[in-house]
Amino acid sequence: MAFLLLLMAASLAASATAAMEAEPACSPSLCGAVQVRYPFWLDGGGGGNVCGYPSLRLECRGGTPVLRLPSGDYRVHRISYGDNGDDGTFTLHDSIVHNSRCPLVVGRNLTLPEGSPPPFSLTGNDMNVTFYLRCPFNASPSHMVACLEEADGVHHTYAFKDGDYLLPYEFNSLCQDVVGMPVLRSSLGGSRWIHRVFRALRRGFELRWTRALEGRCRDCENSGGLCGHLGDAPYQFTCFTAPAAPAPAPALPLSL
Ligand SMILES: *[C@@H]1O[C@H](CO)[C@@H](O)[C@H](O)[C@H]1NC(C)=O
Ligand SMILES: *[C@@H]1O[C@H](CO)[C@@H](O)[C@H](O)[C@H]1NC(C)=O
Repeated sequence: MAFLLLLMAASLAASATAAMEAEPACSPSLCGAVQVRYPFWLDGGGGGNVCGYPSLRLECRGGTPVLRLPSGDYRVHRISYGDNGDDGTFTLHDSIVHNSRCPLVVGRNLTLPEGSPPPFSLTGNDMNVTFYLRCPFNASPSHMVACLEEADGVHHTYAFKDGDYLLPYEFNSLCQDVVGMPVLRSSLGGSRWIHRVFRALRRGFELRWTRALEGRCRDCENSGGLCGHLGDAPYQFTCFTAPAAPAPAPALPLSL
């Protein structure tokens, strides 16, 4: 009798799990080779429920996840989701440098979204490269960007890494534009890095994304849910049930 009760309880539990269907928006999806899952999400453009953080919205364009930042669109290479509720990181590059061997004609400063805490921050693996465009003087050739030489023979473009010595020239006041872009520190090691500066821009930089620290989203995650919103705007917060972990592989029958 006890055995029968146990069996009934087990089958009841099984059907209850089956009935609690997870929200499809919470399922991981693939864009090219990049797995996109909570708290990132892929916007298919069709509206519908969203499971993830508003700031971690990606669009899949031609097999590449694209993140929109205040300064423009950035192509995401790799996402690390962090373990045990830690923050994760991802690498990306400015789409403006994507197909061009000499892209700074239209270069732009990286601008990250603001907030408290900010949704993204640069990491210790990044360093800044600052480009000084169309400067009316001849400075160190080892900082000159050859592919951006002006035809007039007077104006030159220079690039500097963090910590490089800029004096005695008045780069900030005399050059026509200043553009700062982060790169991975590992991309610009060694000498003659100036020749690798555009390749470094295409290898991109790393950002850390921040988990919800407070508010409804934090409460939802603490209770085992995933925060998101229902349907189209206006934004309506909801807490989705996390998808069930994949079932373990069936155990091989023991031969007795
Ligand atoms: C790069 O520049 C940005 C903006 O000026 C700054 O916030 C950041 O700390 C700099 N990064 C490094 C590694 O110096
Ligand atoms: C980029 O940022 C620098 C420093 O903040 C600023 O002086 C410069 O005007 C900005 N460049 C562009 C193209 O917005």
